[in-house]
Amino acid sequence: MKPAALALLATAWTLPFLALAQPAAAQAPAKDAIEVRIDATKAGAKIHRNIFGQFAEHLGTGIYGGVWVGKDSAIPNVRGIRKDVVAALRAIRVPLVRWPGGCFADEYHWRDGIGPANQRRASINSNWGGSVEPSTFGTDEFFDFVDQIGADAYIAANIGSGTVKEAADWLAYMTADPTSAAGKERAANGHPAPYKVKYLGLGNESWSCGGAMRPEFYTDQMKLYARFVRNYHPEQGEKMPDVMQRIAVGPGDENLAYTEEVMKSWKAHDWAWSIEGLSLHRYTTGGWPPSYPSESFDENAYARLIKETLTMDGFITANEKVMDKYDPEKKVFIAVDEWGAWLAPMAGTNPGFLVQQNSMRDAIIAALNINIFARHAERVKMTNIAQMINVLQSMILTDKEKMVLTPTYHVFRMYVPFQDATFVPVSFEAGTYTQGSITLPRVDAVAVKNIQGKLWLALTNVDTQRAAPVSVDVAGLGVRSARGDVLTAPRVDSVNSFAAPNTVSPRPIAATARAGRLTITLPARSVAVVALEP
Ligand code: AHR
Repeated sequence: MKPAALALLATAWTLPFLALAQPAAAQAPAKDAIEVRIDATKAGAKIHRNIFGQFAEHLGTGIYGGVWVGKDSAIPNVRGIRKDVVAALRAIRVPLVRWPGGCFADEYHWRDGIGPANQRRASINSNWGGSVEPSTFGTDEFFDFVDQIGADAYIAANIGSGTVKEAADWLAYMTADPTSAAGKERAANGHPAPYKVKYLGLGNESWSCGGAMRPEFYTDQMKLYARFVRNYHPEQGEKMPDVMQRIAVGPGDENLAYTEEVMKSWKAHDWAWSIEGLSLHRYTTGGWPPSYPSESFDENAYARLIKETLTMDGFITANEKVMDKYDPEKKVFIAVDEWGAWLAPMAGTNPGFLVQQNSMRDAIIAALNINIFARHAERVKMTNIAQMINVLQSMILTDKEKMVLTPTYHVFRMYVPFQDATFVPVSFEAGTYTQGSITLPRVDAVAVKNIQGKLWLALTNVDTQRAAPVSVDVAGLGVRSARGDVLTAPRVDSVNSFAAPNTVSPRPIAATARAGRLTITLPARSVAVVALEP
């Protein structure tokens, strides 16, 4: 192994290099090949399907236009929710959606968004562009939406400007028996059966837009919500397998004071309150305010953002260390419930709407982040990319009746077999890709075994110019073939537009098998996910 590559493995890639002997009959790998060794006999942590979660905030056209068009719209819809978007989201098996924010959540008053549409209270979305929030998409519409796409609900409660009673009343509205006052109100709005609230966020970025609270003050507030905001769904009571999980606010930068304070308090908690998760936020921005364009960028801008993306690993590790001190049994999970590329707003758009294009670079950023989450699967049980539609690093872009799937969407689609699969150790010498003063690991790889025992391998070639021949050796399983999809594009800044929606779209890839060795040629700037077949 070259010293440079070793150093990269030690910093960005946390797995140990397993020196496994090559089978005697195996043909030597091609010069320049990346040797990937998979030990199929070793099982790691389960990669929770929630690692592929989404975040949808009332921001720009993320909800209005992106999800909700209204029942009378000419755009095909079911009860006001776009049919094309629902079909696309079903295909990536969205496990959960975090809603209604973000910063918006800490100013959201749920009563504005229930009842007859013409009696809803419109407000001003002061966080995001000062637009009018019509409140036509409220609690009942959200549950209709998650039901249509087959996802769980992750509700973010308003701790910043709401009260414990307001949040408790909201949960009662959503979950209480239809004979109770709260349940009767829900039934009068068309839904007698209680909704399931699988996850409850106790605030959002409470160190900043959520109220600029000191960690101690936040933690005291959070305990009140954890205690009194109850879920009354008959299948979600205490000790039931489907019990609601509460997620407290953690950090969004290297200051881990929130992690320290929340976890210290959790360790000392009694029967009256608890939390099950801690939220982390981390975006790839290239500095603040975000000024990196989302299209028509050069290779230097590409390399800088990839380098920054890889710091997600150290950020999670630093938080894990603090959590391990108070919770060595890993009872409290990490939810990276905001992540993704946050780039310069596109020319001609409202800067408060956070509109950006999505390129092959975003696909690589998504894959590298997912791989990091998979390596931390013992503690990271949920992540939510920001944001699902039309905002930041989205899955889908819409413009009135038009819809286009982004390169990031395709990565989520290709990784579907990773949902709820078991992590399998992979070792490899990553090689290097250099752009100017930046040197990065050239290739990344993660593998899983699904419930049926099938092995899947995900590979990313960060190099913009050179294809990477990857030679795969699987210990404990005679692998004869591999096939799946590869996503690549003419350039790293290639995008899908309404006029050209398939510039970045997956195509089949297969391995060639020769003398006991599988070789997959990864195109430059690509992400591939393949099934390994005996
Ligand atoms: O995703 C956009 C914003 O980023 C969210 O509202 C906030 O939580 C974070 O700062």
